[in-house]
Amino acid sequence: MLFCQITDTHLKAERKPAYGIVDTATMLERCVESVMQLKQKPDVVLLTGDLVDYGRDDEYALLTTLLKPLTMPMYLIPGNHDEREALRRAFPEHTYLRQCAPFVQYAIDDYPVRVVALDTLIPGQGGGRLCDERLQWLDNTLAQKPETPTLVVMHHPPFRTGLGHMDRLGLEGADELEAVIFRHPQVERLACGHLHRSILVRFGGSIASTCPSPAHQIALDLSADGPDNYVLEPPGYQLHLWDGQRLVTHTAVIGNFPGPYPFRIGGKLID
Ligand SMILES: [Fe+2]
Ligand SMILES: [Fe+2]
Repeated sequence: MLFCQITDTHLKAERKPAYGIVDTATMLERCVESVMQLKQKPDVVLLTGDLVDYGRDDEYALLTTLLKPLTMPMYLIPGNHDEREALRRAFPEHTYLRQCAPFVQYAIDDYPVRVVALDTLIPGQGGGRLCDERLQWLDNTLAQKPETPTLVVMHHPPFRTGLGHMDRLGLEGADELEAVIFRHPQVERLACGHLHRSILVRFGGSIASTCPSPAHQIALDLSADGPDNYVLEPPGYQLHLWDGQRLVTHTAVIGNFPGPYPFRIGGKLID
């Protein structure tokens, strides 16, 4: 099966540009178009937070409109820019959003790979937290299906990235999370958002990864005191392919590029 991960869409009401520059609404439209033009349609779309910029109802109204062309089931989690109740109001048919209230945590058991979503929010703050209650829920939930390959999704990545200003918005409870993940080797991946770049690291005997944004990317500056900057590099999303044995991740770049060109003509390599 094929998962598509889209993250950090940062929509603003009335299609206003984020930070006065980034046309996040048009960029999400391009992303959705790109996903729907894939030769292999994803079975599921996972949206991993910072879906809007201020957690406002009018921003979520725009989000629901822009996501309409996606015909496959979608699962959402909030990021530090989201607001749990506004998210639930905007997607009333997404009943899983209430599975573990007040948190937006849930398990989806409808696919060969189980999806377990974690809520890392601290309302009103940029950094994240996994408190004892959320971690205990995760431990219990993972213990229910030890044989089923599992994809954990969450907004804040549980590791230091080297991007100084993003690491300052860390995740409380990351060490405790790693201890939980070590106990459940069926976790194939922890797929995160928040970093607006593709990053991966070994974590708890599994792999934790982050995904590019369909809008702006965090500037690649690995200094500890790096500035709080973004860049308009080619945007993207990720495809996580479950081949029955492993979860294989591809980063898709959004845009129109020359090609494809053949390597060979009539079986002969072009010189
Ligand atoms: Fe973000
Ligand atoms: Fe974020």
